[in-house]
Amino acid sequence: MKTKRILSAVLAVIMIMTVMTACGEAKPEYAYDDEAPSLCEAYADYFNIGAAINSWDLTDETTDRFKLINKHFNTFVMENETKPDQIHPKEDTYNFDATDKFVEFGEKYGKTLRGHTLVWHSQVPNWFFEDNGEQASADLLVERMKEHITTVVSRYKGKIDTWDVCNEVLDDSYGLRLSNWLKIIKDYDGDGDRYDFIEIAFRTAHEADPDARLIINDYSLESSTDKAITMYNMVKKMLEEGVPVDGVGLQMHVGIDMDVEKARENMKILARLKEINPDFVLEVTELDMSCYGWGNNDLNIDFKSIEKEFNAKYVELFNMLMDLSEEGVLDSVVFWGFNDGNTWLNGFPVEGRTNYPFLIDADLKFKSAFWKVIDLPEKR
Ligand code: XIL
Repeated sequence: MKTKRILSAVLAVIMIMTVMTACGEAKPEYAYDDEAPSLCEAYADYFNIGAAINSWDLTDETTDRFKLINKHFNTFVMENETKPDQIHPKEDTYNFDATDKFVEFGEKYGKTLRGHTLVWHSQVPNWFFEDNGEQASADLLVERMKEHITTVVSRYKGKIDTWDVCNEVLDDSYGLRLSNWLKIIKDYDGDGDRYDFIEIAFRTAHEADPDARLIINDYSLESSTDKAITMYNMVKKMLEEGVPVDGVGLQMHVGIDMDVEKARENMKILARLKEINPDFVLEVTELDMSCYGWGNNDLNIDFKSIEKEFNAKYVELFNMLMDLSEEGVLDSVVFWGFNDGNTWLNGFPVEGRTNYPFLIDADLKFKSAFWKVIDLPEKR
């Protein structure tokens, strides 16, 4: 009898201890929790981890959103406010307020900052391309482009570390996109290629801040080998001519059905630009993972039904990115947002559709994918 009682007492103690340990190890629910581990700290040996934000994320340092971004990310970019239509809406008007605030935040907390973007066919005001109702001449457009780049880059010299100098200059048939920049500036120096607006943009940015890292940024480079090769050939030629391109940015708006091994191969193609410039880098600049596969226009998905698949793909992707970091070709991975409540994918490419592309949900709670991804560096 006595032994039985002792045994049940011991069992009870063990059970209580087990419950207590389990409670003690309970994972924090909210991504801004003081006790929560930091994503960028976990990846410190591999690459910086960043997020696209908006100036309203920075207005109050006591908010959960602010705590969250400051904790998990060491690199930042503005989602829209540094784009030409916002920072330079009219020829004689610059709006620096938002980007100034962004830079102040970056300096205060020692963050690496990216400037997005100087030359793009989208979110650029028409005044750049017009002259008294007519199309601007090549000379005028070059002059305006130089003025824009010089003003913006020199204002943030030594403060914005990296610029997406040109964004999306390639089109979907793997040639140069027929943007207004290309249409008007064409082969400006008469040397037979039409990379001139890109070359002028990079040279001007370099003059304005010789220490800034200058990136050429594009989408689908991870999924289209043709596009990756076109990018490789173009940048190779520019590097051989001494154009100061420091790296290629892969936006990586990927889907749950992405082919990670193909992405690895394509990134390796681009990384061969190191043969010409040993310091050449790759960056992931706009990562988000749509829960809908490519071309799937379903209106709404139940996230729970694809959660496992989503987690597995994130794990596969981050393992591949760490491999590339070990090979010395990748040092920055930036998400295009930071929580499922604020993502351009809740409206693109299908209006009114909800998406769940990140590791943190719309209530700022950790998703199960977060715990899988944050554990990876330690497991290697
Ligand atoms: C998107 C923003 O997220 C949206 O808020 C805006 O309405 C349109 O632009 N590639 C880019 C980014 O380089 O600048 C885009 O950002 C997403 C695609």
